[in-house]
Order: sequence, then C-alpha cells, then structure tokens
Amino acid sequence: MAEEKIIIFDTTLRDGEQSPGASMTVDEKLRVAKQLEKLRVDVIEAGFPVSSPGDFEAVQRIAALIKECSVAGLARAKVVDIDRAWEALSGAVHPRIHTFIATSPIHMRHKLDMQPDQVVEAAVAAVRHASKYTSNVEWSAEDAGRSDIDFLCRIVEAVIAAGATTVNIPDTVGYTLPHEFGERIRILTERVSNIHRATLSVHCHNDLGLAVANSLAAILQGARQVECTINGLGERAGNAALEEVVMAIRTRRDLLPFHVGVVTTEISRASKLVSVVTGFPVQPNKAIVGANAFAHEAGIHQDGVLKEATTYEIMTPDSVGLTANRMVLGKLSGRHAFRDRLEMLGYELSSEHLERAFRRFKEVADKKQELFDADIEALVDDEVIRETEHYRLVRLHVASGTQDTPVAAVELDVQGSQVRGASWGAGPVDAVFQAITQVVPELKGMALQLYQVHAITGGTDAQGEVTVRLAKGDQVAQGQGADSDVIVASAKALINALNKLAHKGGRARQGI
Ligand code: KIV
Ligand code: ZN
Repeated sequence: MAEEKIIIFDTTLRDGEQSPGASMTVDEKLRVAKQLEKLRVDVIEAGFPVSSPGDFEAVQRIAALIKECSVAGLARAKVVDIDRAWEALSGAVHPRIHTFIATSPIHMRHKLDMQPDQVVEAAVAAVRHASKYTSNVEWSAEDAGRSDIDFLCRIVEAVIAAGATTVNIPDTVGYTLPHEFGERIRILTERVSNIHRATLSVHCHNDLGLAVANSLAAILQGARQVECTINGLGERAGNAALEEVVMAIRTRRDLLPFHVGVVTTEISRASKLVSVVTGFPVQPNKAIVGANAFAHEAGIHQDGVLKEATTYEIMTPDSVGLTANRMVLGKLSGRHAFRDRLEMLGYELSSEHLERAFRRFKEVADKKQELFDADIEALVDDEVIRETEHYRLVRLHVASGTQDTPVAAVELDVQGSQVRGASWGAGPVDAVFQAITQVVPELKGMALQLYQVHAITGGTDAQGEVTVRLAKGDQVAQGQGADSDVIVASAKALINALNKLAHKGGRARQGI
C-alpha cells in the first residue's frame, strides 16, 4: 500500500517570528522563504498581514516570489483580517487563507468574551468569507488542547460544512501529553461526520518539551498535516521543530509509514539561515541541527563509528546536508573557487553580493590561514545580512592592555551621515558599547539582556560569533556579528540588534 503523505506546513515566518527578539526584516523573510522553497515544505505561512504594514509587505512579496509551495496568511475571524490577508496573498500561485478563533472555555470567556454559539457563528462566517476568495481555506481552533471535546467536534463539523479544506488542532499552550493529544485526534476522526472532506492538521507548542512527540502521536491517529518551524522557533518555548518531525518520520518508517516531500539535505542550511537572521543560536545538543548532533567524542563511540557508522548513528550527517567541515579555501583561492564553494553550500548570490562577499573573504583569509565551510558561511551571512542597515559600522579602533584603560573610537554611517564617538570602558567591549552609545543616544534607554561569544571553528585565529540581545520597553531584538576580531564582532552584533530595533520601531504590531 502506498504510504500516505504528511503535509509539512512551516510557520517559521509567522509563529516563529512572534518569538520575542526573533523579528526579521522583509528582506530576511524573503531569504528564509526561498530556502523553505528549496527545502520543499508544502506550505509556508508567511505572516499575519493585518498585524502591521511590515507583515503585509512580507506576505505580499513572498506570495509573488514563491512558486512551488502554498503561501498562507493568518487572519482572525474578522472580515477586515480576511480581506487584508487576501489582498496580500492574491498574487500567489497557491494562496491559502488561514483563519482562527479560540475554542477553549478559558479563551472564550476571558479573551473573546463570547458564548460558544457565538464562536461557532463567527468561525463559520469567517470560513464562508474566506471561501469567496479561495477554496484553499484553513481554519484553526486556538487552544484546542484545552477545549471541550464535544464542542470541538461540533465546531469542526460546522467549519468543514462552511468550506474549510484544512482543519488545524493547535495545542496552543503546549499542555497536552502525547497519548492525550493523539486521543483528541482519534475522536475527531471518528465523531465528525464530514472529516473526510478536510485535511486534519496539528500545531503543537513546546512548553512541556512535547511538541514533536504530540505531533507524531497525532499523525498516528489520523492527522495528515503538521505545523512546525525551523529550529523549533516560536512563541515562548517554541513550536514543533520541523527538522525533528521530518527526520523522525524518515528514520522510523517502520513505525511511521508515511512520507514527506521535504528535501532533507537542505535542513542544515535552513537551520543556519534562520539562526543567523533571527540571532537565535542553536544549542549545541539540539537534535538534528545542533553542532554536536553528529559529533562522537567518547573514544568507544568514535571507535564504533569508524568501524561501522550505524553503531552509533541512526541517520547520516549527509542526509541533513552536513558536509564535513573541511579546510576549503585559503588566501590564494580565486573568485571561481570561492563561487563554486558557495554554490556547494547552497548560496545563490547576486553578482553584487558575490563581489562583496569575495572582498570580505580576502580580508578574512589575510588574517586566517585556513578557511573552513563554517567560516565561509559566517562571513557570507555576516556580509549579506547587513545590506539594508540603518546603522553601519565604518571604522573601529580599540586599545587595551594590562596597564591601560581600555578606549574605543568608532565611526558609524547613520543613513548616509558619518558620525563618530569615543569612550573608555571597564574592558574593550564595554568601551566599544559606550562609544556606540555616544553616537546612538537611544541605546541609553535600552537594556543589554545578553552578550555571548562563541568560536566558529577551533584555533586562536578562529572567527568569533557574538550574539547580543537588546530590550527597549516590550521590544526585544537579537543581533549577531562574526569576525576574526571578537571586539569587532561585538560591535557588529550590537549594531545588528540596533538595526532590528530600528526596523521594529517602525511597525505598530497588533497582537493575536
Ligand atoms: O498556537 C496557536 O494556536 C496558533 C494559531 C493561531 C494557529 O498559532
Ligand atoms: Zn502557535
């Protein structure tokens, strides 16, 4: 019997981006969307168009760009949301309107202030309205994990009758256990008389670390779409991690007899890209995409893997697109070799970006003899990511030592004007941050919540990757910077976070 397909619905650009500090610019979202298309996810949820002009623009541009996947836009059960979603999506080859309303007693009473009958009426009206634009309509029962199961069956039947072609059951607060969540799905498949007319979907949050387990339990009971995000990004503890769901299905075909359309060799690239654009590093022991996911440190393990890889490896690093971190290029390598390597790593750069990245590569290669794949990826991401900046680092000079007070002088380009500042500090990084604060006075009102450095490769000449998290009121932004000088990387990371806050400040976001 042919294996049934599990539809992979990626919501990195919508639910993932709702994670505090993970905001992306429109250009960054376009880059992620392109990578998701290469990964061959089935649906890309590109944003929540009514929530801000920035979200609207992102959905509209992604809808125009993506040809192979469906592009979805989120909308509450309101005419204005649905109209705005369609306005953004209408240029897509395969548009999908995703409308939702909360169905749990807690949400209906405290958030919506609506009676259950009114919620059914609003859900049906929303689906009918969306169906006037497209037959590809998804409806979600927010907080379905804590909803009354009889009510859930009733509302699901009503929205399918109204035209919903996908019905999504979210565990919005990550509360359920796998057997319990699977049971909800089983009951829906048994009790909802028209369930065969829609695809049953799940959307699990990870508050108890069970998002992937719950999604798999749901598949076993009849769900055929899983909503997930790259690196498990998302509200609070995040969503089910796409890479974990997909690789579990691929690795355990014996117990999960399904197939997915995802090109798994694009997983590592997608993970790195999302990490770079959001500034959220991937924890080293993260399943599938963590730096240690395929590392064998203990001698007994190394010995076993050398004799026969399957002794300790249940998947190959190649299957998720991890190539050996070989020494690839040096300072004598030319433009051709550099371009070939970038192509192998999955980058498609315009000639202008390629030229900039190549210049940057030469600078790094002058300082560092051996460049590994990770170095190349870091420098390209670092260069390309900084193209539409409000603030740009032009020059930095730092002096420090055992007998001297650390001092820093900095020159920034602020939307075309050059500004300079200088300061001393407790250490060189502090001096740099103080000097930048002189030219960006808004920094004074911001809290530095995180400052973290990590070496991209081994050796004292390794490039350092710095992550900085800044908070201003209820807005949070993470920035990253990479350089073989960690002080320069620190300045870049701070400026990257400032740019993200500058971009966020320009969008009045409406919460869900
Ligand atoms: O978690 C949730 O319930 C959601 C819905 C809007 C699908 O993200
Ligand atoms: Zn969610």
